[in-house]
Amino acid sequence: MTRPTPRVETTLLPRLRADLTAVGFTVDGLEAYLGPTATAALRREQPFPAERLTRAHPTPLGALVRLFTLGLEVDFDEVDAALPTLRGDGLVALDLAERTGAGLRACCDLQPHADETHAWWVASDLTHAAMGAALEPDHVLGVGSASLTVASWTPRTPVRAALDLGTGSGIQALHLDAHADRVVVTDTSDRALRFARFNAALAGSDWDVRAGDMLAPVAGERFDLVVSNPPFVITPRGTRVPDFEYRDAGAHGDDIVAGLVRGVGDVLAPGGVALFIGNWEIAADADWRDRWREWLEPTGLDAWVVQRDEQDPAQYAEMWARDGGHQPGSWIHDELYAAWLDDFDARGVARIGFGVAALHRPLAPREPFVDLQEVSGPVTRPMGPTIAAGLAARDRLAGLDDDAVLDVAWHVAPDVIEQRHARPGATDPEVILLGQGGGLRLTHRVDTATAALVGVCDGELTARAALVAIAALLDVDAADLLTRTTPTLRRLVADGFLTPEPAPARG
Ligand SMILES: C[S@@+](CC[C@H](N)C(=O)[O-])C[C@H]1O[C@@H](n2cnc3c(N)ncnc32)[C@H](O)[C@@H]1O
Repeated sequence: MTRPTPRVETTLLPRLRADLTAVGFTVDGLEAYLGPTATAALRREQPFPAERLTRAHPTPLGALVRLFTLGLEVDFDEVDAALPTLRGDGLVALDLAERTGAGLRACCDLQPHADETHAWWVASDLTHAAMGAALEPDHVLGVGSASLTVASWTPRTPVRAALDLGTGSGIQALHLDAHADRVVVTDTSDRALRFARFNAALAGSDWDVRAGDMLAPVAGERFDLVVSNPPFVITPRGTRVPDFEYRDAGAHGDDIVAGLVRGVGDVLAPGGVALFIGNWEIAADADWRDRWREWLEPTGLDAWVVQRDEQDPAQYAEMWARDGGHQPGSWIHDELYAAWLDDFDARGVARIGFGVAALHRPLAPREPFVDLQEVSGPVTRPMGPTIAAGLAARDRLAGLDDDAVLDVAWHVAPDVIEQRHARPGATDPEVILLGQGGGLRLTHRVDTATAALVGVCDGELTARAALVAIAALLDVDAADLLTRTTPTLRRLVADGFLTPEPAPARG
């Protein structure tokens, strides 16, 4: 049976927007109504606390939670009360809900979404929890944790042309619309593109919506920003593992990410950035960076890749076997689990990396920078300002030789702190750490001279002048200290500990 997707009825959408706003069907409104426990449970796809709460405290807002978030049948009168200008009939006309005798049942999920300055609604397919059944192969995702990661890490610098590759319900494009003159969205799934068109219309946005495989629909074009939460899940082929369109494009191993790395430069304008997430396979005794260097080498692109997590094949299989709604203990779950383990064994994969890639086409040809970092701890949200500043810092460093780096009067960033650890009774510290409160929240262990240098970086003295004075104080050779300290100085600049201009405070 074909499942409906919402219809773009331009006369009804303003009423839907007005009613949803008035009833408080917003991120803040729902959090206030549901409270932290039910909200957190819903994020874990556990609907029970929210269901219990909406029964105990029935309100017009609660009726919409029951309808759209929990996938329950709701009386027509209650829907009319919650949406007084659109009413239940309007929801049916939009194919957002269908009649069920005296009530209505949602045809899709509808959830509010917001960033610091904008608010939207996102229609997508009903979740596994709301349907109580395994997902269909053409399931269209709502706003998930991977969507939020991409949205958080995307630099929000104003751009002319932006591309959302594998748009799904259009969540990334909603964000892009706020800072791009033109937004192109692509997907292979017609169902996803219908949801994307509806969500654009509901937001009052106008995107160039195109069907097609990966970069094919935009071949020959140039974008200032490409974002993608691609179908990167490594999926065993020729098995009964379902090929969900939302997570898998039919590729072998990590070919989808490799293809994106190798191909995205063709659609990046000079100065353009591609920001995407993905999984990559790591062979036993190999370093994940080797695989990335191999992919990047022919592209000529700058790359800053942050690996956030590594899983072993069993952890990966458990996560993705469950993702489609197959429960541990069922025969199908165990069969899928085995298929993933066999697939990884066949290629000698020992670990699977997950992370975020920011690729950049330099404005003018030069030797590209490649910075492959591992950061597993919590990071600031949103990360976009850190990515924008980090790419700018690395771009600047790529054009400066060591002498030029030493001749800048750097500023220490306002979120940098120094920690000194000494053995009990000792006057000199055993370990000096520089940490940052925002961004990637990195910590670097430094020597006394580097700590002293960072301590005087207030934009007055060049690094060279400061290090020569520090060498005299420490009674060490100045030329030797300059040579030894320059790589650390470069690292601290790339990581945002030191900036060429005074930096605003970061959260
Ligand atoms: C993980 S979802 C991301 C959805 C949305 N952009 C987000 O951030 O949540 C991946 C999307 O890629 C689409 N997709 C699958 N195969 C594709 C392909 N070969 N080319 C382009 N898009 C594809 C899926 O239909 C799905 O909408």
